[in-house]
Amino acid sequence: MSKNITLAFDVYGTLIDTNGVLVLLEQLIADKAKSFSQTWREKQLEYSFRRAAMVNYVTFATCTLYALEYTCKYYNVSLSIEQKDELMSIYKVLPAFDEVKEALTELKKDGFRIFAFSNGEKAALEKLLDNADIKDLFLGIVSVDDIKTFKPTPGAYAHFLRQADVKGEEAWLISSNSFDVTGSISAGMKSAWVQRSSDMIFDPWEIKPTLVVNSLLDFTKKIRD
Ligand code: LAC
Repeated sequence: MSKNITLAFDVYGTLIDTNGVLVLLEQLIADKAKSFSQTWREKQLEYSFRRAAMVNYVTFATCTLYALEYTCKYYNVSLSIEQKDELMSIYKVLPAFDEVKEALTELKKDGFRIFAFSNGEKAALEKLLDNADIKDLFLGIVSVDDIKTFKPTPGAYAHFLRQADVKGEEAWLISSNSFDVTGSISAGMKSAWVQRSSDMIFDPWEIKPTLVVNSLLDFTKKIRD
């Protein structure tokens, strides 16, 4: 049965830990590092949403760079061009969360069709997943850069379904990002929300996740049941 089920894993924040920038940020700005990292991430996503709404596309990496510039201004932090370059370079080699490789390996063994599905550009995703030593576990890597927009535009999920050659009701989106879960369900997919810590809040909308899990291993266990 699992052979007919397609799993689309969100990348940044779900497979890959965007807080991987913390080590360098702590060296650069000490106790502001944690809030800086959070604002940077939130602004990156806000910029992607706004670019999609404006139909004025730049790449996700450009959203990330503009968000870094904004965050420096917001915290009144002055970083050199080299330091900003270094932070942007770390973004290309962020680590996977601990349980990811084991969970994907199990799912692959069970015959699920596993894809990575992200706002990031294809080349950046390939490098990132290769560096985290999980690239070979995927049947494919789907980037919304192909259609020059961002999640949660419905077209982004439709693009995934076309690329993976599957119908929405046979496909799951697995994401730690609440907006991605509501977006994919709204576009006709099933979706699991990965709540890695109890302080993560799901948007209190009328759209609920199909499944809530606390890690990808927990997802592996529950999808098998
Ligand atoms: C992605 C963003 C949502 O990987 O983190 O698509």
